[in-house]
Amino acid sequence: MDLLRRAARTLLLADHLQRMETALGEGWRIALTDTHGAVVVGERPPAAGPVAATSPIRMDGVTVGDLRIAPPAETTETMAAARSWVETLARMIEALTATEQVRRAVTAEALDGYREIAQLHRATLELGASLRADDVAACLLAQFSGLSRVRWSAVYRHDDGDAPPRRLATYGEDAAALFSALEPAGLLALLTADGVDGIVNDLHRDPRLAAIAPHAGALMVVTLRSHGTGIGYLVLLAPPPSRFEAADLHRAETLASIGAAALHNAELFAAREALAQQILTAQEEERGRLARELHDDMGQNLLAIKLHLQQVQLDLDGAPLSPVIDGVSATIHDLRRILAGLLPASLQSTGLGPTLKGYTHTLAERCGLPVTATVDDFDRPPREIELHLFRIAQEALHNAVNHSGARQLRLSLQIKGRHIVLRVEDDGRGIDPRAVRGEISGMGLSTMEERARMIHGTFTIQGHPGRGTAVEVVTPLP
Ligand SMILES: Nc1ncnc2c1ncn2[C@@H]1O[C@H](COP(=O)(O)OP(=O)(O)O)[C@@H](O)[C@H]1O
Ligand SMILES: [Mg+2]
Repeated sequence: MDLLRRAARTLLLADHLQRMETALGEGWRIALTDTHGAVVVGERPPAAGPVAATSPIRMDGVTVGDLRIAPPAETTETMAAARSWVETLARMIEALTATEQVRRAVTAEALDGYREIAQLHRATLELGASLRADDVAACLLAQFSGLSRVRWSAVYRHDDGDAPPRRLATYGEDAAALFSALEPAGLLALLTADGVDGIVNDLHRDPRLAAIAPHAGALMVVTLRSHGTGIGYLVLLAPPPSRFEAADLHRAETLASIGAAALHNAELFAAREALAQQILTAQEEERGRLARELHDDMGQNLLAIKLHLQQVQLDLDGAPLSPVIDGVSATIHDLRRILAGLLPASLQSTGLGPTLKGYTHTLAERCGLPVTATVDDFDRPPREIELHLFRIAQEALHNAVNHSGARQLRLSLQIKGRHIVLRVEDDGRGIDPRAVRGEISGMGLSTMEERARMIHGTFTIQGHPGRGTAVEVVTPLP
């Protein structure tokens, strides 16, 4: 539909003009015609020629139609009035359509703005959802796929020192090959050296580049800034004859700032995870060392003392050494218990299954609760997996004993497909969901989770109020 008809409809021009006709009095006729003379508004078009006064209607400087007013009689007076009216009305219609155009333009702009905000919102959610730097980089590039002009893109990360930037991710068909070709050519280094964002259009006219990347027409470089420091950059390429405009750069910079923050967070998360793992490893080494020393030195000494005392008792023929010997025996017993907690010797010798059976047996005796253990028979996994699964079982069992008020505990260690599944269940009060969310807790839950991650496993803990808690770790067999 043409502009004049659309404006006539939205502005209810038919109503307005009819009212004017009535106001002018009997016999006055008003009509609006398009540039071909077809009637847009007005039932009876007033005849052209000297009987009617006409005025063109312009929109955006273009004539879109004519307004005509015919008086009831062709007197000097009525013709002068008609001319004056037609001018006034025509200018009024033009003003109205201009406002209408403004309104439409504003609405379109607001819609664009809304779309952009919605896209940014989506991008923020998506970027915040990944915790691995590579995933964040890939997700950032995917955000640009909606920009029709961008065909290939890459994220680069500066490392400390003078090392060349590392490419974290690429997007687009054969993008990896394209960027691999561009990197040695030094072009990217040149463009990104000064850390200023910018656009280079008409790349295909550059003969040096035409040989390497004949499909590259326009290029945009945007710095990834986190806390004011450039941590890398984003390269976006479009095929000719596309050109990047300032608005593209602006949008890319906004997305890049969200991406940089997400990237930084993912890296902090990875660093935190690495640190937690280092601490756990150091802790295990220290426990092993302590256990060995206690066993080899103290344990052997205590045993020697006990034997010596027994000999003395025999030699002295009934001297009252029994209480001392009993004391030493009790100390040896305590030491064994401490050693079993620090690092059960059986974990190394017989493996995880038998160790868990023995451990649950001792625990049942100590806490007076039935603890059943179902353990599949399978080849021993690597030491690391055995150690972490043992620690997780140990913590889960202790939590059940200390926090659940259960009447019964169950442990199972099973093979399902190519996975080991460890499960510890109790029939107690059911863990508080706030503890599961990490809002209230000690270190136990987070350490179990961290250990599961160290062996590439998943950790879940589920509580049902009044019906117990289940901890499960599923870890792949190597
Ligand atoms: N099996 C369970 N039944 C009920 N509550 C539990 C259970 N396991 C853990 N919890 C709750 O979760 C909290 C956090 O456990 P954890 O991180 O191991 O810390 P800690 O054992 O040092 O309190 C516990 O304080 C307890 O409130
Ligand atoms: Mg605990």
